[in-house]
Formats: sequence, C-alpha cells, structure tokens
Amino acid sequence: MRKSLTLILAAACLQASVLAGTYKAQTVTIATANPANSQHDIAIQAIKKVLEEESKGAITVKVFLNGTMGDEQSNIKQLRTGELQIATAFTGNIAPSAPILNILTLPYLFPEPSDAATLLTNKDFTQKLANIAVTQNQARPLGWILGGYRNITNAKHAIRKIGDLQGLKLRVSPSVTQLAVFSAWGIEPHPMAWAEVFNGLQQGVIDGQENPFFTIRDNKFWEVQKFVTELHYMLWTGAIAVGEPWYQRQDPDTKALIEKAVAVGQDTEWKWVADQEDICKKLAIEHGMTVNALEDEDVWIEKARAIWPKFYELIGNKEMIDQALAIIKAGK
Ligand code: MLT
Repeated sequence: MRKSLTLILAAACLQASVLAGTYKAQTVTIATANPANSQHDIAIQAIKKVLEEESKGAITVKVFLNGTMGDEQSNIKQLRTGELQIATAFTGNIAPSAPILNILTLPYLFPEPSDAATLLTNKDFTQKLANIAVTQNQARPLGWILGGYRNITNAKHAIRKIGDLQGLKLRVSPSVTQLAVFSAWGIEPHPMAWAEVFNGLQQGVIDGQENPFFTIRDNKFWEVQKFVTELHYMLWTGAIAVGEPWYQRQDPDTKALIEKAVAVGQDTEWKWVADQEDICKKLAIEHGMTVNALEDEDVWIEKARAIWPKFYELIGNKEMIDQALAIIKAGK
C-alpha cells in the first residue's frame, strides 16, 4: 500500500514537472501606476501572455494597474524588496534612485522621435546602462517602452513664448533634469508623484503638467486641462524593470523566458505606440483642448541645453553621454 502510494506520488510529481516544462513554478507580480490600455499596460499584457503560455501554466502573472501598488518610485523600490518582480515606469521616476538614467532625460537629447529607438536598440549601450543602474537601485531595466514628446498642459492660458510660463504652477516628475529645465525656463516647477497628478490638477493644487498626448488621453486630462503646448525637449522613455535579486535567482531556462517575455513586451509596445500620438492629439482637440506651438523654440532649446554640464557629475559617466550622442548621430 505504502509502496503504491509512493509510486502514485512520484508519478504525480513527474507529471507536474512535465506540465511545468523546465520553468520554475511561481507567481510573478507586475505593477504600473497607469491605467488599462496605457503604453505600460500594452507591454505588461504581452509579457503576461508569454510568461503564462510558454511556461504552460508553471508561471502565473498577477497584474496591478492604476497605482494600486503605489506610485512609480514606490514600484521601483518594491522590485528591490521582492514585493514586485516586474514594474514599468517613466525614466524620470526611476532616475532618483538610479542617477545613470538621467542620461535619457537630458533635454533635447533626442531631436527626432526615432532617436530614442535608435539609442535603445543599441545592445552595447543598453546593457552598460542596465548594469550600472542595477548597482544603484537593484532594479534592472531589461526592456524599454517609448512614447512621444512631453507637452505642457495647463488650465489657465495658452503658452506660445517662454514668458507665458510665468505664474503657472507646473508639475514635473522628481527627475532632477526636469526640475532644472523648468528652472532654466524661469519658473519653479512642482515635483509630485505621478499617482497624485490628476487630483492635484482637479483641486487646483497645480495648474498644469507635462506629458505626451497618449498620457493626456489615458488620463482624460481634458476634463481638467484646456491648453496644450507642443514641446520637443524630452521624449517619453520608460523601463520595463525587473527586480535584480529575483531575476538572478532564476534558473537559466526561466531567466531566458523572462528575457523573451520582456523583449516581446517591448516590441509590442513600440509597434502600438507608433501612431498613438496622432490619434491622441486628435482626441484631445475633439475634447476641447487648444493645441499651441512655440514661437520662440530656439530660446527654450538654448536655455535647456545649457544645463547639461550640471549633470555630468551626477550621471558620473560623460563617456556614456558621448556614446549616446554618437549612436544617435550614426543612426541618421
Ligand atoms: C510622469 O510624468 O510621471 C510619467 O510620465 C507618467 C508615466 O509613467 O506615464
């Protein structure tokens, strides 16, 4: 009796391991502070599909949207503590704990929308960037998500010239480069966690914020904002980051599957995002927003470019800034 029970248990274990393939059975928790169908969610759903389908059920993925696991900076910390395994976040919200990532938020680094894709498909560069970032905050940027240029929205008046910024309380992320850019443009910006921005706009704690058109759409900012000004100072880049302690604990097959899932997530988001800015700009106009262009963009560029040297020490790697510039130039 005892022998047959042992045999049955052994057979059950064998069947379970066959079903599970060679992947480590586990639940993977992924979070974003953004809503369903945002660029974050598009990447996350693709990652979930690959992990669950290709592990044949050994891996179960739980997704937390809308900041239910906290804001983006908190999500990055949770990767270190193991509360989360994967999170997506705007680079400016990761850079406070991984200063090397400030490279990607240097103003006017990307003169053309395609420049971010050129840089972030250069494996030598992204691997170096990830290896440094991980020593700083234990969150490895294993993949990247992209978006359009960050535009200013506000509820008070049209911005066409640099002087029009005066008197506006504008929210930026806690990224030191964003804070410095707006100071260089003559106002004191208000750093605020992303998850608090809509309420801040609704309650008039802030008059405006800056983000691409698809973020305006995802968050229905037209309910609380009237004016949009198109800027070209910063392309939205974000990381698909994995918790380094968790990632390094995986066996080689599981690690390879995680890498594949993140690559598919990145690829899916890059394809999806390509026409989103135009679609979302039209929607913003349909919902009553007024879109303005700058009349003195050269002044904005000159003032913003002048802040670069302030960040060489913090970034700690001027060589990598030069490498980024060379890669972008070679991609033209
Ligand atoms: C921010 O402004 O904090 C980000 O751009 C929000 C996001 O992750 O989309």
